[in-house]
Amino acid sequence: MFQLKVLCKEETEQVLKMNAVIENVEEVYRQKALGETEVFPLIFHEFQPGIADMDIKSGWLKGSGLFGLKLVSWFGDNIGKQLPPLIGTVMVFDDSTGAPLGILDGSYITGIRTGAAGALGAKYLANPDSQRLLLVGAGHVATFQIAATLTLFPNIKEVFIYDALDYKSAEIFAQTIKEGLLKTLNIPYNSDIQFTAVSDIQKATAQSDIIITVTPARTPLIHWEWVQPGTHFSCIGADMSGKEEIDSEILRHARIFVDDLEQCINVGEIELPIKNGIISREHIAGEIGEIITGKTAGRESKEQITVFDATGTALLDLIMAKLAFKEADKAGLGTRVNL
Ligand SMILES: NC(=O)c1ccc[n+]([C@@H]2O[C@H](COP(=O)([O-])OP(=O)(O)OC[C@H]3O[C@@H](n4cnc5c(N)ncnc54)[C@H](O)[C@@H]3O)[C@@H](O)[C@H]2O)c1
Repeated sequence: MFQLKVLCKEETEQVLKMNAVIENVEEVYRQKALGETEVFPLIFHEFQPGIADMDIKSGWLKGSGLFGLKLVSWFGDNIGKQLPPLIGTVMVFDDSTGAPLGILDGSYITGIRTGAAGALGAKYLANPDSQRLLLVGAGHVATFQIAATLTLFPNIKEVFIYDALDYKSAEIFAQTIKEGLLKTLNIPYNSDIQFTAVSDIQKATAQSDIIITVTPARTPLIHWEWVQPGTHFSCIGADMSGKEEIDSEILRHARIFVDDLEQCINVGEIELPIKNGIISREHIAGEIGEIITGKTAGRESKEQITVFDATGTALLDLIMAKLAFKEADKAGLGTRVNL
């Protein structure tokens, strides 16, 4: 009855290029600020606490005629079964008929759109002459954060990488990132950039202009006393209730923007500081799309501390699906199946 398109991970890797991804993520933030999108309530279910869970993020991109969802399952025991613990599947539907349009593997989509989100937070809030970037977390999403930030900030001179659990993994990350940027993501970068693994996060915090946190931490990793005036934070790791990466005192002193206010209050970096009464809802300056549309000013001074709290909405996955289908059609990629 319905013909839909299926794209596997390798096909999404082939067709999604960083510049276009950044443009599309920015466009979604703009549309959201103009009321042209809807984010539906998040569903989360734990099959076995700490062992197996799933969440469904869904939404509607009115201007693109699409609605849909991404289902992410996390089954920790998969490692012993030679399967990835985290599996993402994106499903897209036509908003005029409700008919399914396609299914895509969600892992590359998640990485690249999340990288673009963190970097766009920096584009709109960090000091434009920023030269030092600190990545807190050296996992899957960290590579995409660096790739997108270097795309938008060609003047970055040094990238610090910190892994709270394993310094060796930060070292390996720092040694292999250049190859990853070039071969996997095709990101041209200034060959003078230094990628340095760090074990002293206090010192690295004080030396950095932009800090991107991308860990599942539940205890703050960065403290207010270490932060220099003018620092920008893109907080990416906290996307589930109880996660927290930076000291709530930083948030109390910062001008804060979010990707989606309700979702961030429920599961983002601002969740616990609001619940604990350190900041109020009114302390949040707005959603990032409001800076993009010119409704609200972003950074107000060179010395101001700024924070972008991004929990990642399905809107980003849907626009990635649209872009991937368009590029796959041009390249003759993907499989058509009848439902
Ligand atoms: N906001 C979004 O749109 C979005 C999208 C994807 C992932 N995420 C979140 O980002 C985080 C990182 O995702 P990933 O796929 O890169 O994970 P990953 O497992 O590949 O890497 C996690 C990194 O954090 C470190 N780490 C693990 N536990 C820690 C802890 N308790 N304290 C400090 N460091 C710790 C690890 O050593 C590793 O360096 C997760 O919380 C994930 O849910 C958010």
